[in-house]
Amino acid sequence: MHQKILDICKRRGIVYPSFEIYGGVSGFYDYGPIGARIKHNIEELIREYYIIDEGCWEVECPVISPAQVWIASGHIENFADMMTECLNCGEPYRADHLIEKHLNISCDGMSINQIHELIEKNDITCPKCSGKLDAVYDYNLMFETEIGPGKYKQTAYLRPETAQTTYLSFRRLWEISRRKLPIGVLQIGHSFRNEISPRQGMIRLREFSQAEIQFWVEPEHKEHERFDEVSDIEVKIITGENEEITTTLGEAVKRDIIKIQIIAYFLGKSIRLFGDMGINQEKLRLRQHTDEERAFYSADTWDIEFMSSNFGRIELVGISDRQDYDLSAHMKLSKQDMRVNYNGKKFIPHTIEVAYGIDRPIYCVLESCYRSDRTYFRFPKKIVPYLVGVFPLVRKDDLPKKAIEVFKALKKEKFYGFYDQTGSIGKRYARADEIGVPYSITVDYQSMEDDTVTIRNRDTKEQTRVKIDELVAYLRSST
Ligand code: GAP
Repeated sequence: MHQKILDICKRRGIVYPSFEIYGGVSGFYDYGPIGARIKHNIEELIREYYIIDEGCWEVECPVISPAQVWIASGHIENFADMMTECLNCGEPYRADHLIEKHLNISCDGMSINQIHELIEKNDITCPKCSGKLDAVYDYNLMFETEIGPGKYKQTAYLRPETAQTTYLSFRRLWEISRRKLPIGVLQIGHSFRNEISPRQGMIRLREFSQAEIQFWVEPEHKEHERFDEVSDIEVKIITGENEEITTTLGEAVKRDIIKIQIIAYFLGKSIRLFGDMGINQEKLRLRQHTDEERAFYSADTWDIEFMSSNFGRIELVGISDRQDYDLSAHMKLSKQDMRVNYNGKKFIPHTIEVAYGIDRPIYCVLESCYRSDRTYFRFPKKIVPYLVGVFPLVRKDDLPKKAIEVFKALKKEKFYGFYDQTGSIGKRYARADEIGVPYSITVDYQSMEDDTVTIRNRDTKEQTRVKIDELVAYLRSST
């Protein structure tokens, strides 16, 4: 199935490897004409959930930031993976991944020395040429660059997460909020990680998109007033013992499995959001990070993972209690006061972060919506690249002219659609289905007599005859 999805993705312009004419570079993917529309719609859905429904703001910050930002945040010191190289062929490897694959154990929390010893003790060699592996060392994942020329030159980095750039304007956002908490701020944009061996297609990229929401809250108020709206959602949770339990979010909070209510709220909201994107909710499960694997900035992190038939578990979102780690860190280095006076107290707000990747969920949407019977994507209408295709039944007797009129009328109403008159009508339906277009509108001979068209439904293949005058209302009521 995976290969078939990849074939359609390349052939129909959903996603494909970047820089293909120069042989490609691992970890970079282009979104083609169809994929870019789907990505846009998924980002809009996230905005609907967080800007409209949750009342967050949106900001957009630079992707390049001066070194101070990443010194303060701890990324220069801590944002590294353990790497080794083959002494014979030079192939680089993530040392922990090699061991995990070889010995089927988790390396979370292990030191460089422990990893190195495991490689030596178990005679783990280069999977490519069986050469001996070099000493293990920390490899920082940030891309380094420079800002400015000559004496103005300063070291800078491409951001490995959007979050940090949102924190930098906390003081300003606090003033804009008229000094009230909570404040929720969404940022959607590109992040960059120089991954050691990105061999998993869209799952591990060196340049990828994130949608990260930072909620600044009072340290002792980590509840959410709308928790009731998600408390009945049934979830699968992987416990520390690697056992799967099924419960509701309400029960999970009651039983102290999820200790922070606002984290449980955003887990529930994310499950709904992923369902609305078209991701199979049956394949989602929640997992709390162990103390050893948790990122250096987090006091508690929960992931939602998708069980992919091709890649195994894929982390789609991480929801963390970053406490006052980041704001304190920037206060220390920048000497700018990040404390607020609120409800009679002076404190640094705590950050609850909801960190979505965009590319991984898109892969999971593709895997979930793919239907092998007729080779098509059953995308939900909210994320389809086009809502309609408009076709003349044949290319003669003025049918194309009328079909173009219908197409123009739909364009005027701002529907995303396309016009196609090439090939048999069956082939055109199949092409539209393949990229998930829910409605195919056909102008036939009857249209010339009574100003009606047929609307074919992608999922049922049923055709309904509708008056051209009523087409807009029909499409609006069906979306
Ligand atoms: N600000 C917190 C943060 O960046 P993360 O768990 O490292 O947390 C958040 O990343 C999300 O970004 C992940 O759940 C994943 O969906 C996405 N992501 C992270 N690294 C990625 C990569 N190399 N390629 C594609 N997506 C990635």
